[in-house]
Amino acid sequence: RPRVLSGIQPTAGSFHLGNYLGAVRQWVALQESHDAFYMVVDLHAITVPQEPADLRANTRLATAQLLAAGLDPERCTLFVQSHVPEHAQLAWIMNCLTGFGEASRMTQFKDKSARQGSDRASVGLFTYPILQVADILLYQANEVPVGEDQRQHIELTRDLAERFNGRFGETFTVPKPYILKETAKIFDLQDPSIKMSKSASTPKGLINLLDDPKATAKKVKSAVTDTDTVIRYDTDLKPGVSNLLTIYSTLTRTGVAELEEKYAGKGYGALKTDLAEVMVDFVTPFRERTQQYLDDPETLDSILAKGAEKARAVAGETLAQAYDRVGFLPAK
Ligand code: TYM
Repeated sequence: RPRVLSGIQPTAGSFHLGNYLGAVRQWVALQESHDAFYMVVDLHAITVPQEPADLRANTRLATAQLLAAGLDPERCTLFVQSHVPEHAQLAWIMNCLTGFGEASRMTQFKDKSARQGSDRASVGLFTYPILQVADILLYQANEVPVGEDQRQHIELTRDLAERFNGRFGETFTVPKPYILKETAKIFDLQDPSIKMSKSASTPKGLINLLDDPKATAKKVKSAVTDTDTVIRYDTDLKPGVSNLLTIYSTLTRTGVAELEEKYAGKGYGALKTDLAEVMVDFVTPFRERTQQYLDDPETLDSILAKGAEKARAVAGETLAQAYDRVGFLPAK
């Protein structure tokens, strides 16, 4: 079975609809066909300041949401990044193979550091993508299921894998991004020119999966569309409507063409009312399942302990090989 690896930050508390449709939904599907490794990236989380108690709680909360979304610890390896020390160890080697200018060109860093101010932004934030490279290479992943915003980090991963292999001999699998075109980028409901995100979206444009379903329904009903009334998928001319159609289509597994047909001659109101219902039907059980997992932290922690053990077996082997290739003297 080919291998996939991906990660999600725990910082946000509730996952948003972009996280789910852009990434987590694919993770659930891929555990059937692939040897799948999924992790909550707490090391990445501390690249910006975190309250320790919140970080711990959010790491469990992220795990509970991943299980509620359908990850099955019998079918995939689910773990927390800091439980596997090899991530930080390989990241150091990768740091030493990355050019300063190369790291400076990472657009997510540029955006995030611009938002924080360059004096506030940590060196950890600067090397964030390189830790992500280590995450992926440690598992010899063939594919990395993510949203469009992670593409540049996967490109860097490919570059560094090839660089290491070229310099020290074949060691790492060169991974490919696994990005589904339809859901690669879910947009803000109030401003369909920007992606849905915790940091950039307005509260009304952001669907948090754990919010009160009634509030979510309201956000869908007040989503920005356009002055025309035709329900048609056209990302250039009708970005708002197209975003709603994408969401509707993926949540109900109905083709966009079929939806266009269903709503021919009907107004935006009908589409939004129905989508609001679809969304409520999705988030209500998701919230309940998340709460059930949270109510049982012992089970949660034992799932993560097993996951860490499985992850370390793979990561440890890769790291040992990389250490050897680099020329570190074995500790006897
Ligand atoms: P994070 O936590 O920001 O986001 C998790 C996943 O959600 C996707 N995503 C979206 N997809 C579509 N539309 C959106 N509006 C949207 N917003 C977020 C992201 O693309 C991502 O797949 N750096 C990563 C975490 C990471 C990682 C890794 C991923 C760390 N190590 C190794 C893959 C492999 C991140 O911050 O994701």
